[in-house]
Amino acid sequence: MHVGVLTGGGDCPGLNAVIRVVTKALINECGARVTGIERGFLGLVERRVRPLDARAVGGILGQGGTILGTHNRADPFRWFGAGGADVSAQVLDYLRELGLDALVAIGGDGTMAIAHRFSQLGVPVVGVPKTIDNDLMHNDRSFGFDSAVAVVTDAIERLETTARSHGRVMIVETMGRYAGWIALEAGIAGGADAILIPEIPYELDALVALCREREQAQGYTIVCVAEGAKPAGGTLTVQARLADSPDPLRLGGVGQVLRAQLEQHLSSEVRATLLGHVQRGGAPTAFDRVLATRFGHAAARLVQRGEFGRMVTLQGADCVSVPLAQVAGLNRCVPIDHPLLDTARSLGVSLGERR
Ligand code: F6P
Repeated sequence: MHVGVLTGGGDCPGLNAVIRVVTKALINECGARVTGIERGFLGLVERRVRPLDARAVGGILGQGGTILGTHNRADPFRWFGAGGADVSAQVLDYLRELGLDALVAIGGDGTMAIAHRFSQLGVPVVGVPKTIDNDLMHNDRSFGFDSAVAVVTDAIERLETTARSHGRVMIVETMGRYAGWIALEAGIAGGADAILIPEIPYELDALVALCREREQAQGYTIVCVAEGAKPAGGTLTVQARLADSPDPLRLGGVGQVLRAQLEQHLSSEVRATLLGHVQRGGAPTAFDRVLATRFGHAAARLVQRGEFGRMVTLQGADCVSVPLAQVAGLNRCVPIDHPLLDTARSLGVSLGERR
């Protein structure tokens, strides 16, 4: 059996742990030959592959990023390097030449959408969900998320000591695209005073009231805002528009927008910190290493059983799988009746809602 492995979309901690277990499990359990495809679907268009064996995947378990490289605009059905042309036939030819019996695609919603289209064209594909955003459908937890939350939590704690010393309002902006999972969990873990998520548009006057109350009582305020958060009746803060990308809006900057808004109403100074890609880099937490390893092993098992067109997922405590058709291109946002939102409210944490 000859199996290809690729990592697509943005990188995240834990990708190497998946590459490692997929390679080892397939070699150990069925003597497979494993080929790494470089830079996601770019490698299938540019014909860039390399063999993977136990030696090639040795010592990578705790390394951030991906040893195979990745690309978040490489969609063969809408090729950024060819004015949006469909080059999928080229990829199919190359897959035939390689003689792959299976392809393991590790990625987010965009990668799963591409994997699903190839699966419909007869390619035997298995998907493995990755994203720090934790926003894949039918998947309770993505690896990478815990690591990102740990970085943001640490940042909030650091900002708290300086905010307290200067009597300031400190805003920390997280990633997460259109889902508020990172801001919500890190905000709770770091003890933020306000958590603003895309799912609940914020009322500026509610935040001003919170900061004023805290100016009197504690002297400082920590606001954790997700990049996809927006004011009630307002719009998303967009850093760039990318016409040739499967993800056409690059979000970011809402922290500065909020800083400017709050400053007009407060006597305290307001500062904003954009954490950016710091959240995505570095070593995976122990939790993410274990989850990534479980996912990779489950993917290797699907390959061995010939169960293709599926993505492995975590549902409750169980590692199961769902059809790619059910996850391709879809996002999982924070449900507005999520229990953690209620927990935040009962702690007195503002979610930007009017009281
Ligand atoms: O999807 C992961 C993610 O890190 C998002 O949270 C963020 O909006 C986006 O990727 C950033 O992408 P890029 O690396 O292209 O700036």
